Amino acid sequence: MSLSFEKSAALIAENSRYVAGGVNSNFRIGMAGGPLVFTHGEGPYLFDADGNRLIDYYCGMGAMVLGHSPHGVISAVQDQVAKGILYAGQSPIEFEAARILCERIPSAQRIRFGSSGSEVAQAAFRLARAATGRRIILKFEGHYHGWFDNILWSTAPALNAAGPEDAPVLVPGSLGQDPIDAAGLDVIGWNDLARLEARLAKGDVAGVIMEPAMCNQGAIAPAPGFLEGAKEACRRHGAILIFDEVITGFRLGRSGAQARFGVTPDLSLFAKAIANGFPVSALVGRADLLDMFVSKGVLHGGTFNAQPVTMAAMVATQNALTPELYEATSKRGVRLRDGIAAILKDAGLKAQVTGFEMMFHVGFGLEKPARNYRGLAAGDKALYVRFAHALLKRGVRVLERGAWFVSSAHGDDVIDATLEAVRGAAGEIA
Ligand SMILES: Cc1ncc(COP(=O)(O)O)c(C=O)c1O
Repeated sequence: MSLSFEKSAALIAENSRYVAGGVNSNFRIGMAGGPLVFTHGEGPYLFDADGNRLIDYYCGMGAMVLGHSPHGVISAVQDQVAKGILYAGQSPIEFEAARILCERIPSAQRIRFGSSGSEVAQAAFRLARAATGRRIILKFEGHYHGWFDNILWSTAPALNAAGPEDAPVLVPGSLGQDPIDAAGLDVIGWNDLARLEARLAKGDVAGVIMEPAMCNQGAIAPAPGFLEGAKEACRRHGAILIFDEVITGFRLGRSGAQARFGVTPDLSLFAKAIANGFPVSALVGRADLLDMFVSKGVLHGGTFNAQPVTMAAMVATQNALTPELYEATSKRGVRLRDGIAAILKDAGLKAQVTGFEMMFHVGFGLEKPARNYRGLAAGDKALYVRFAHALLKRGVRVLERGAWFVSSAHGDDVIDATLEAVRGAAGEIA
């Protein structure tokens, strides 16, 4: 099978006179085969303008944990639309959504909702700085916390610009970023407790932000003791620990990576799978910190925060995310993950398949599983792009950065069809 994507290409070209580059996020440009145009989604499938049916492992960049057409979410949204779209006031559905998160997420004593992960990261930085009276936000190389000027640094830096591994320098992610923002930020390598300790000891860090498992790049588990050590070091040095669970939340388990690894941060961010594709994000955490929005003059705003239609989607999504669903989806995810590893090995391709049941990473050219960004950056990205393109031509859509997101709608037949495509694609590039 070799699918063609000509109609998508023509639509992108034609509409580039209205939409810059034909896409509305830079992360959608530059795929091998070109950006695609989709007409509809159903379960594990996306249907494109050329009439192709693609098995989708983008899953909305991780958001579509229930697949593309979960009936419970759709009908909850339809019911809410009939009752009103935006009240600029409170609604019972947002309180129900908040209660569910508080009951489910270990760190969630209080909540504020937003519309995107990038946005609630900003709210977390503001709280950390207000609470500590310090300026520096400490981040880790290769971790991504949104596209805003003050944090889009060293997310995927070129190694020739990033400095030595034990003393990385901040590398901007975009032209046009204000260099003054680097003054409020510092970066170190992840999964290295000694370096974190040493940096915190300077006493100027307001907040430490990390993905508790590094998933925007790779799918790397924290080293044993790293999260616990980070929590203890932050406590000792008076810094606020922030977990960015935008990807890990509701994928590494229904109570987030924090429950899975047993470490409760001061603040956490959730988005993506929280509402299966509807624009909901949440900043959750310690009551005394979140209550600074109320009593200590820290501002948090947003016209669309807790928009009732998205809240209805969130409640329906959370209600669908039962332990049974995780068990069944995880089983299929592991079968897929391990099946891919076996096929690549048989094909003689050097690869590391790492990560979790419902989100994992395939990295080519790696001798051993990566421990952090530097380990990952040693891989053969160009070869993986060829693999992703070979899969696309066979009807399987995967991210070119190596991430695979599995939804509850990816049934055993879909996993079998995917493994068949992986076999063909591996043979093509080997
Ligand atoms: C770990 C992580 N944090 C934050 C964000 C930003 O979220 P959003 O794209 O909703 O602004 C992303 C997005 O990919 C992410 O992967």
